Amino acid sequence: MLVRFRKGWEIPETDATPESLFSNRRQALAGLGAIGATALAGRGARAQDADPSADLYPAKRNDKFVLDREITPEQINANYNNFYEFGSYKRVAKEAQALKIRPWTVKIDGMVEKPVELGIDDIVRRMPLEERLYRHRCVEAWSMAVPWTGFPLRSLLDLARPLGSAKYVQFKTFLNPSIAPGQKETWYPWPYVEGVTIEESANDLAFLVTGAYGKPLLKQFGAPIRLALPWKYGFKHIKSIVQITLTDKRPKSYWEALQDSEYGFWANVNPAVPHPRWSQATEEVLGAGKRVPTQLFNGYGEFVAHLYKGLEKENLYM
Ligand code: MTE
Repeated sequence: MLVRFRKGWEIPETDATPESLFSNRRQALAGLGAIGATALAGRGARAQDADPSADLYPAKRNDKFVLDREITPEQINANYNNFYEFGSYKRVAKEAQALKIRPWTVKIDGMVEKPVELGIDDIVRRMPLEERLYRHRCVEAWSMAVPWTGFPLRSLLDLARPLGSAKYVQFKTFLNPSIAPGQKETWYPWPYVEGVTIEESANDLAFLVTGAYGKPLLKQFGAPIRLALPWKYGFKHIKSIVQITLTDKRPKSYWEALQDSEYGFWANVNPAVPHPRWSQATEEVLGAGKRVPTQLFNGYGEFVAHLYKGLEKENLYM
């Protein structure tokens, strides 16, 4: 993710072009080497062996969600992450291991009848875990396909009984600069915040993720709980959530706070609307060595297109 203003800390704009993304990824992977990449993914996996929820995985796959491509190999995916709390580059897997994911609680508050704060183990044991194969499209024009495990967002929200007057759902990531060096960079608007409308949150596809590849979520994927909204650009998929607030005010997201001319609230995948600095028409499929055309709503229009009727004039990523 890049912003328009160019300061000393920023990666050059050219790094956001599809070609250089591709070669940067190759360099990153080559730098790690096949053994290094596997070891890094493996180190995360071993740490997760002690996860008290490990017995819940793998969960049963929900066959309703089918892919048009191969699942991205885990060792590629687990070593190519956006998790700015741990650095503004892709190789943050090692740094992310500093995140302590027990104890971990998620607060649901704001415009609800019954505010709750739940421990992550309580959540995963109460919620109906299932595996879903989802495509994931980053605004940087790369994509991957992931077997996430989790449960519908609305099942968790229902526990707090949202009020009829609530219009939006806002999510917040942890704030702890002592373990997350990126959060010492005060020019970023920490903590990471994202938001959706109530209607989006109730959609079948809106999924809270607690696992991937048949086991508890690796830390670099946003353990112990992150969001997956496969029809939206990847920056909406907030990681390591600690608070969910029902509100009648439209949330201002982290990226919108940083650069609202480039990253809007809606952020639906739309190949016809370029990012101000690069095209969204195609995407580099990680691990597959090819580019493919990007689909409207990332191919999930049958589930979500009805949510945006009348909003065609909203200019950002609609
Ligand atoms: N959530 C937090 N808290 N911090 C981040 O930097 N990056 C976002 C999103 N969620 C981000 C985040 C972006 S830009 C993308 S593309 C996805 O996470 C990347 O998810 P992945 O690492 O599982 O591919």
